[in-house]
Amino acid sequence: MLRRPRRNRKTEGIRSLIRQTKVTTDDLIFPLFLIEGYNKKQEVISMPGIYRLTSDLMLKEIEYCMGLGIRSFDVFPIISKKDRTPEGSGGYCEDSFYLRTLKEIKARLPESHIITDIAMDPYSSDGHDGLVKDGKILNDATLEILGKMALAQAETGIDMIGPSDMMDGRVGYLREILDQEGFQEVGIMSYTVKYASAFYGPFRDALDSAPKFGDKKTYQMDPANRGEALVEAQLDYEEGADILMVKPALTYLDIISDFKENFPLPIAAYNVSGEYAMIKAAAQKGWLDSERAMQESLTAIKRSGADIILTYFAKEFAEVSRR
Ligand code: PBG
Repeated sequence: MLRRPRRNRKTEGIRSLIRQTKVTTDDLIFPLFLIEGYNKKQEVISMPGIYRLTSDLMLKEIEYCMGLGIRSFDVFPIISKKDRTPEGSGGYCEDSFYLRTLKEIKARLPESHIITDIAMDPYSSDGHDGLVKDGKILNDATLEILGKMALAQAETGIDMIGPSDMMDGRVGYLREILDQEGFQEVGIMSYTVKYASAFYGPFRDALDSAPKFGDKKTYQMDPANRGEALVEAQLDYEEGADILMVKPALTYLDIISDFKENFPLPIAAYNVSGEYAMIKAAAQKGWLDSERAMQESLTAIKRSGADIILTYFAKEFAEVSRR
């Protein structure tokens, strides 16, 4: 046999030499859950190892993670039920604990790269990402609300917004509003394709944000569709997105690969809550090795074409890499 592929697998020496995909902390964004109050830390039941934190503890967490080499964080607020309204006005109320915390993070840890979430669901009494009227999700009226959220967040000094709502035209709308108000430097990491997925379950537990009626299928994409993803990507590209994101990650590696092949922008993938929960739950039962499953998942996501991975494993990955 002239070709014996096993020769290149013989020792770790040769294996590490020819390894094509290496995940590092440079690639990762760590999503964090913020709650109101002081010195409180609540574990998300369906996401072992992931906590809802008050701002004081979140600052410490970010500082600790930065020491491990993670620079980017995506902060999601948990808004109490009483503060949710049909218009989601809590999203741009100037004195909200979310906005105050963002300002504090950027003031105290200016080297951190802070990304925010743009969508109505945490603030909406309907639990939808857009404005609801007569059981329908309004597109253009939602844009105005998202615009106010984006400006309020940009004022805090954050680096990048992450529109996760899937309304049509929102990237262009937000880019224009940010530019008009002098926030040319605030980037947009667009949730370009967000599929209507079962894998967001634990996140909705964390935020207590499940929709009050129906589902999100009139705005999030049908998991069966591949071509439509390129339409969304083309639009976001033309509308000025800085980063295109695919979400979830593991069940959509073909889409990540399509994006990488067809667009020159950095591609991000969101290794979502359900993907994290599956590994952690199986590991708790002793059914698989969590650390190896984490490494393999992140490697697969990067191999498929993702330059950036949002993952709840970020801190654990960084700690393991330190060893
Ligand atoms: C909502 C939002 C969701 C996630 C991020 N932003 C959930 C949803 O669309 O219902 C999910 C993230 C995850 O599951 O880790 N705008």
